[in-house]
Amino acid sequence: MTLPENRCKKLWRFTQLKLGNHPNDTSNYELTRLASIILKISQGTLLDFVGNHIISVNQFERADVERIFSVADAMRPYAMRERITRVLEGAIVSNMFFEPSTRTRVSFGSAFNLLGGEVRETTEVKASSLAKGESLYDTARVLSGYSDVIVMRHPESGSVAEFAEASRVPVINGGDGPNEHPSQALLDLYTMREELRNKGRNIDGFGIALIGDLKFGRAVHSLCKLLGLFENIRLHLVSPPGLELPEEIVAELKQRHEVESFNALEDGLHDVDILYVTRTQEERFPSQEEANRYRGLFRINQSIYTEHCKPNTVIMHPLPRDSRAQAQELDDDLNQNPNLAIFRQTDNGVLVRMALFALVLDVVDEAHNHAQPVTWHTAKRHHQLG
Ligand code: CP
Repeated sequence: MTLPENRCKKLWRFTQLKLGNHPNDTSNYELTRLASIILKISQGTLLDFVGNHIISVNQFERADVERIFSVADAMRPYAMRERITRVLEGAIVSNMFFEPSTRTRVSFGSAFNLLGGEVRETTEVKASSLAKGESLYDTARVLSGYSDVIVMRHPESGSVAEFAEASRVPVINGGDGPNEHPSQALLDLYTMREELRNKGRNIDGFGIALIGDLKFGRAVHSLCKLLGLFENIRLHLVSPPGLELPEEIVAELKQRHEVESFNALEDGLHDVDILYVTRTQEERFPSQEEANRYRGLFRINQSIYTEHCKPNTVIMHPLPRDSRAQAQELDDDLNQNPNLAIFRQTDNGVLVRMALFALVLDVVDEAHNHAQPVTWHTAKRHHQLG
């Protein structure tokens, strides 16, 4: 059975109106909720984003990912400063980052600002009362009284889920130890879709080499799970011995895709459309001595790229790349290579994070009703993003 989306939208708007006119009639809440579910089914999406936590990519079906991407597309004029919207005026996000971050923290904050909301930040455990022994439960109970939504990064796997259980407002996982980084995986996949589309291709059937520390890299773990929603991808898993992708993720990938593993860098670069390079996650190793064994082992520079990759292979990296002389998994000499997509990834991060906020706080349709023209000079940014 197919449900026409425009009629489902009408039904949903009708129930909203009824709810507005008779707010004390609880049956109207039930009706609105039912209409909202029918609308989502008509849009082919299964996840009810509104008011829900985003903790793991396991929450998503393919239709949910496509829904996020279509909302991200709609956010482009605001991120490009062609228009502004104040749809989240008065709303507050708490950005709780208990591990170092540049991109995730600032782009979540910028995304919220671009929707008109305000950002409160706590960085480092030592600047919070967690340092005095306060539990995640208490911290979540307190902070959810101060915010409409919370973004959290924490060094322990499962910590954000534990925090979310106690929170009274939606929580978005900004990275929990080596476990998951869902918004990074979404923006990576969004970028892959854009890069492939520019070459007349799509995600189904493409080839990708995942390179580097596949054991501890949470971004690559989340990305692999998302790739599991697509069809017939050719994956090269290229990592030094000891830093291979966890077996359970490999097994999942093999259910739908063609997977080959390589321990030598040069062996795995051929015949793919995208290189996805990752940093050695030194902070996750049991000791610095052990991490040092891997530093600089896999380096991609322009001459390796020219020798081993097919022309126009896209180069991606979740960043930060390690630019110390001994590391350099992605050499600066690739900076002028037009196939280097790393800063297109970071720009896309704002779109995808705006989409997550808009979906979770239920302002997707309203964002455009609040749109206004931009009144300041923006040419440089347009050029950079274009
Ligand atoms: N990719 C990523 O998570 O970057 P940050 O650590 O700078 O947030």
